Amino acid sequence: MEVRDAEKTEIDQVAKIWHEAWNDAHAQIVPAELTRLRTLELFRERLETAWPRVRVVGPPGEPLGFYMLKGDELDQLFVAAHARGSGVAAALIADAEIRLAEAGVKSAWLGCAIGNERAARFYEKCGWRRTGIIAYLAHTANGTFPLEVWRYEKVLEPQKGT
Ligand SMILES: CC(C)(COP(=O)(O)OP(=O)(O)OC[C@H]1O[C@@H](n2cnc3c(N)ncnc32)[C@H](O)[C@@H]1OP(=O)(O)O)[C@@H](O)C(=O)NCCC(=O)NCCS
Repeated sequence: MEVRDAEKTEIDQVAKIWHEAWNDAHAQIVPAELTRLRTLELFRERLETAWPRVRVVGPPGEPLGFYMLKGDELDQLFVAAHARGSGVAAALIADAEIRLAEAGVKSAWLGCAIGNERAARFYEKCGWRRTGIIAYLAHTANGTFPLEVWRYEKVLEPQKGT
């Protein structure tokens, strides 16, 4: 399953995946106010800024899921509902781990909403370890929204040349 750089023409599809998948996983477990503030437009704007960092799986024009990194953080990982359970997420996270290691990151981290059990199971299956609960600032249309999240970490395999 090939992981590739996203094409700029795919921004609307990626924003839709992010918005829908975020809602699938979070609408039942975070304050309703946060869900209201996490709009499709907000996700699209954030993608505009982050674009060179977005990696996807899927045929050209039909991305199935994406991830992006921020320093030593796996910042976002979202897969369309119809592509879950298919190995898309595993391909994305494996690629993310290689890129992090190639950038010299020895131990990576990510935040996962408390109660997002499917994501937690997935991360643990991929060798990530829950290390505690941390304060997190979720981006919203009105600035940031404070939230406590599970912190996951993984010690990465060094890549050649790092
Ligand atoms: C998190 C995500 C990327 C994982 O990808 P995926 O394709 O669903 O992952 P997989 O199907 O390989 O693994 C999920 C595991 O959770 C299990 N699972 C499914 N529903 C579950 C639930 N409600 N509680 C606990 N485990 C659950 C699955 O059975 C599977 O475990 P198994 O392989 O041992 O059977 C994807 O589900 C997703 O995009 N979710 C919505 C957005 C999201 O939560 N993103 C992460 C933000 S931190």
